[in-house]
Amino acid sequence: MNHSQNEQLMARKAAATPRGVGVMGTFFADHAENSELWDVEGRRFIDFAGGIAVMNTGHRHPKIVAALQAQLERFTHTCYQVVPYEGYISLAEKLNAMTPGSHAKKTALFSTGAEAIENAIKIARSHTKRSGVIAFSGAFHGRSLFAVSLTGKVQPYKAGFGPFAPEVYHAPFPCHCASLDEVKKAVHHLFKADIEPTRVAAIVFEPVQGEGGFNVIQLEAVKWLRALCDEHGIVLIADEIQTGFGRTGKMFAMEHFGVVPDLMTIAKSLAAGLPLSAVTGRAEIMDAPAAGGLGGTYAGNPMAIAAAHAVIEVMAEEKLPERGQRLGDELKAVLHGLRTEVPQIADIRGLGAMVAVEFNRPGTDTPDADFTRKVQAEALKRNLILLTCGVNANVVRFLFPLTIPDAVFGEAMDIVRASMRAAAA
Ligand SMILES: Cc1ncc(COP(=O)(O)O)c(C=O)c1O
Repeated sequence: MNHSQNEQLMARKAAATPRGVGVMGTFFADHAENSELWDVEGRRFIDFAGGIAVMNTGHRHPKIVAALQAQLERFTHTCYQVVPYEGYISLAEKLNAMTPGSHAKKTALFSTGAEAIENAIKIARSHTKRSGVIAFSGAFHGRSLFAVSLTGKVQPYKAGFGPFAPEVYHAPFPCHCASLDEVKKAVHHLFKADIEPTRVAAIVFEPVQGEGGFNVIQLEAVKWLRALCDEHGIVLIADEIQTGFGRTGKMFAMEHFGVVPDLMTIAKSLAAGLPLSAVTGRAEIMDAPAAGGLGGTYAGNPMAIAAAHAVIEVMAEEKLPERGQRLGDELKAVLHGLRTEVPQIADIRGLGAMVAVEFNRPGTDTPDADFTRKVQAEALKRNLILLTCGVNANVVRFLFPLTIPDAVFGEAMDIVRASMRAAAA
């Protein structure tokens, strides 16, 4: 029997790579352009995953490709800590200026989101000389040991991987799932039962939980967290790895709340697919670790930095946060229009283009992960790549490039309607 190219690659993948590296697609990428992607057999997909929120500026934006080609002609690696280069400094200057707050800031660059989180915690501990860290249930901060310790979702991220880093405490996340009063009570209980506030170095939160289900934090909760941190000398860390770089209708989600965190972690769409992350924050906190305490062989790679400079230009020139807000509003209207036909729709939420739809069994509060998978599969049949999320795996999230042409977006909206109707039929 003749196997297709994709089937042959799937068989080789199963034999050569561990199942722990879970893969959603059964097709393999050949090339991609803006919001479209073609597999090795020539099948075209509309990409509403964007490499998990990485391609806000689309695949192969001409300006980003040109910046990468230019950097490739100069040098690809020196290790910034051995022979530094100007691009690192100018990117730090830009991030210091772009992020919320007019105080003096500094930026350190790394490669992955998890690394940014690990380093933000190291910096907060070094500054406060304290050890405790409070995170939230439903949070996702990455897969390395400290990041996964902060993560508040057991399957598949934590199961079987313990023991985790000590001195990490989880509170309920103040969104539609928990009231601020409940959260206050839980945190005050933590302060009584587990750790005194003067031993807490940092509180880390996502303004909109990504993997956790696109749960938007309550405005009052952000203000309360800021006040709590000020009262006890705790470093407030906003993890903007998924919410950042235009996804929520503003450059950073924290701009929606008018609250300034002490440190911010940035990654994903910062460099359009090249591995680059950042910790940006108050200069005096960022300067706490001694020379050599931060960094890494590849941290602040020059190719990735060249891409990030181009991303920042494209974001401004094409007004992508504003465009994302408009497309996000259109998507929400499409989803609301489906409510009567699709009784599984329990909630439609998000900020800007960071939109998700949650499914329950009709007329109940029981999460419907099967229905969610069905919607995803129906969309894929129609060549639209969608991702799921949520602690109960009952949420579909939409992470289209903000550069998506209106015609392709319209085509995708038709597929969303057809897929949800087919799943509900
Ligand atoms: C909010 C958030 N923090 C941290 C991470 C970890 O980033 P990375 O996978 O690049 O390590 C992610 C990745 O999905 C994320 O969404």
